[in-house]
Amino acid sequence: MSRLTELLREIERKDARLAADLANEYKTLSERRAFGLNFERHVPETVDLPGRPIRRGDKVRFLPMRGASAGTIDKRLWRVASIAGTDHARVANLVRQASPDGGLETATRPLDALVVVAEFRDPVYPGLVSAGRVKRGGDKPFHTVINAENFHALQALLYTHEGKVDAIYVDPPYNSGARDWKYNNDYVDGEDLYRHSKWLAFMERRLVLAKKLLNSEDSVLIVTIDEREIHRLGLLIEQVFPEAKTQMVTITINHRGVARNREFTRVEEYAFFVFFGSAGPAQTNDDLLTGQPDDTDGDEPVRWERLIKGSNEARRQDRPNLFYPVYIDPVNKRIVKIGAALPPDVPRDSVKIPGGLVAVWPLARNGSEKRWQLAPETLTNLVAQGIAKVGAYDKRNDHWSILYLNRGQLERIDRGEIAVTGKDANGVLTLEQVSRPKRAGMTVWNRTRHNAGYYGSGMLTALIPGRKFPFPKSLYAVEDTLRFAVANKPSAIVLDFFAGSGTTAHAVMRLNRQDNGRRQCISVTNNEVSPNEQAALDVRGLRPGDAEWEAFGICDHITEPRLRAAVTGRTPEDQPVRGDYKFIDEFPMSEGFEENVEFFRMTYEAPRAVAHNRAFEAIAPLLWLRAGSQGRRIDTAADDFAVADTYGVLFDLDASAAFVEALQKAESVRVAFIVTDDEYGYQMVCTELPAYVKSVRIYESYLTNFAINTARE
Ligand SMILES: C[S@@+](CC[C@H](N)C(=O)[O-])C[C@H]1O[C@@H](n2cnc3c(N)ncnc32)[C@H](O)[C@@H]1O
Repeated sequence: MSRLTELLREIERKDARLAADLANEYKTLSERRAFGLNFERHVPETVDLPGRPIRRGDKVRFLPMRGASAGTIDKRLWRVASIAGTDHARVANLVRQASPDGGLETATRPLDALVVVAEFRDPVYPGLVSAGRVKRGGDKPFHTVINAENFHALQALLYTHEGKVDAIYVDPPYNSGARDWKYNNDYVDGEDLYRHSKWLAFMERRLVLAKKLLNSEDSVLIVTIDEREIHRLGLLIEQVFPEAKTQMVTITINHRGVARNREFTRVEEYAFFVFFGSAGPAQTNDDLLTGQPDDTDGDEPVRWERLIKGSNEARRQDRPNLFYPVYIDPVNKRIVKIGAALPPDVPRDSVKIPGGLVAVWPLARNGSEKRWQLAPETLTNLVAQGIAKVGAYDKRNDHWSILYLNRGQLERIDRGEIAVTGKDANGVLTLEQVSRPKRAGMTVWNRTRHNAGYYGSGMLTALIPGRKFPFPKSLYAVEDTLRFAVANKPSAIVLDFFAGSGTTAHAVMRLNRQDNGRRQCISVTNNEVSPNEQAALDVRGLRPGDAEWEAFGICDHITEPRLRAAVTGRTPEDQPVRGDYKFIDEFPMSEGFEENVEFFRMTYEAPRAVAHNRAFEAIAPLLWLRAGSQGRRIDTAADDFAVADTYGVLFDLDASAAFVEALQKAESVRVAFIVTDDEYGYQMVCTELPAYVKSVRIYESYLTNFAINTARE
């Protein structure tokens, strides 16, 4: 026993309360590490449960008065002592401990002016309700989007995906000090003295859950961050995942950079890759640093460049020495000789053309005189080396094109990316693209396709015109990142629990298209409105929970319409999405993707008051998720049992023989959920199940199977 403990005992005799407080502080201090990251854990973290019906005994807080700013949070927690009034004017009688000596304060408020609050460790009973789906992917598994507080969603996912996730990609709030995230329902700003420890506590709780979801033998967690929290996050990762191998990658996301007064111009952000078990970065064709500034990942075909200078300004009169005839033999498609440059005042018709040949001039489609890219002597040289040739004939305009290999392609030959296999009858080199050996990525990435402005915000403008989301990632940056994690796992399960605009799910769809994969992405994001929108909604007298308010939330206003637009190729206004995907897999965005997505909202159930069937409906999507999010879903408990594509549910043990028979006929079924409180009965059914079917027991009080937020975590 230390001297401190002795002193505490002494105090206890005089003032028990003071002694308890001191003992608490002492415990916190003694648990701190000597080295590493020490921070206040800010327990409890409270979470609003909007939409959860208010019942006696609930913890609630006041919603702001209509018209007042929703940003001014009344943090006081009340207990509902009773509920009174008629259906239309129901009020809650509230009580709270107002002073440490036990003094009580009471209040009465209409139910719609209150929101239920769950503190850390208060049990919560989650359910999922579908908010629609888009189906273009045949029998592929569904990507899912869950509109929820991610702390609760992660806990619910422990039931469906514990140890099953192959990759987690998260882009959390960066804690910039500019009200970019909420802790306990309140924006955290630069003035908050505890902002770093709040952020760490918030992240730690979620990373601990993330760890349980990942496959410990082979999986990757990726967390992006910028300069403001990188060091604290690095230490936190080390502490939460001591067994993993962690690397940090620097990604240039803004090539022009953000200039700051008397500071370096910032161009980058970072990603921690945390590898579990045998995992490591997949090898790819592009190390993301060396090679062409926007090297493709796939093997790039040999590109012969057109000799004509394409731009509008490339007129004959500006560079007369680049206006000359190239004489070709149109039958054998051979360049025969190069004529001399024509002075500007000499018309091209005046030039005499040798018999059997055609003079090719640098002419635009409309016949206007342009110029070539190379001087006559240079082209003569290239022809002699076999690296210039006759291209296609444009019948409509009676015009031939001339092609050559530019410096970039010659460098690829030098690097061995293009092999010279010989010469054709015209003496032109025959070339073959060589598959580049796969190699490891670098720890610094410099690709213009990772630019967040062009390929993040710009991409959103194309998909959901007029809707704004702060700082989406470049689609191609996320695609490149995920390639290192799941390139060799075509059926991977990917999770993003700070999904924002849905870039991760979109990137997974791109990867699937490139290799016919069936990867599925689970995206979790809340329905927060941005601070600016919040101010505008406050003025209109709206507040969280109102339909009009929620419609502007990120999930409903951005994530869902973005992913619908990506899959269908049509904007929310039902116009074809304009523009093409670039890099690696180029195609019109209006083609969409052959993928399935279902959108869910997390609900909060009150277990005692919920009828049996309604309770099953609330948890039905969780069973479907656990069985692989594929095919039909069993949504009601109407019959004794039900069998869908990948799973079955036995509701009444008396029907077990028929259930087992039905499962034997359904070869794609992998999971059988058996609803019973009777352990012996459950075991009996299990012995009858086909070997390839995994059994899962569910208690009859459905919701208790899924109680989350309890002391377990
Ligand atoms: C930085 S953004 C992610 C952007 C995303 N990578 C993209 O490309 O669009 C973080 C997102 O996480 C959401 N978020 C923050 N805290 C959350 C929480 N506790 N639960 C669920 N979502 C949360 C925010 O609403 C925000 O949309």
